[in-house]
Amino acid sequence: MVSQKMNDDIKKILISEEELKAIVEKLGKQITEDYKGKNVLLIGILKGSVIFMADLMRAIDLPCNIDFMAVSSYGNGTESSGRVKINKDLDNDIQGKDIIIIEDILDSGKTLYYIRDILSARKPNSIKICTLFDKPERREADIKADYIGSLVPNEFIVGYGLDYAEYYRNLPFIGVLKESVYENNN
Ligand code: IMP
Ligand code: MG
Repeated sequence: MVSQKMNDDIKKILISEEELKAIVEKLGKQITEDYKGKNVLLIGILKGSVIFMADLMRAIDLPCNIDFMAVSSYGNGTESSGRVKINKDLDNDIQGKDIIIIEDILDSGKTLYYIRDILSARKPNSIKICTLFDKPERREADIKADYIGSLVPNEFIVGYGLDYAEYYRNLPFIGVLKESVYENNN
């Protein structure tokens, strides 16, 4: 059950608002340096990346376009199903563009593996992956991110865009849920 007050469901805060801000600023600076003289197209993977994307794009000092893609790989549980389906495709052609895929978290890697495959087939000039969080211990697919905000332990985290059963995306920090939240749902 999700409480009326979201904070009541949080066992601990893993990454504070201030820490998130510093992580995102650092990524923005790196991208700005690496892509000097170019235009970038940021492709946000919905819905988990929205808050990260909104902050990251403001930390990038380059001519920048954005687009979004929605795929589903998770049900309402906390484990990857292995199935990935495109629910919303990009609005624009990416051929010849320098694209950066923006993800909230790289877990088994199955979602990004699939997305990278379809996007590479559309012949962008270059393709890189920027993930806010990485759980390397959980990796099953052969994929690595080019930009990683922070490594996180093998725990299910919520907030700053990341959800559990579509809730908690609006928490301004990254937290770990109390076990009681899962008990009546799985
Ligand atoms: P993967 O295909 O296993 O890498 O799954 C990646 C997707 O699973 C992410 O984009 C998230 O939507 C979701 N996910 C994986 N781990 C977490 C987590 O700890 N909290 C919330 N969502 C997660
Ligand atoms: Mg999700």
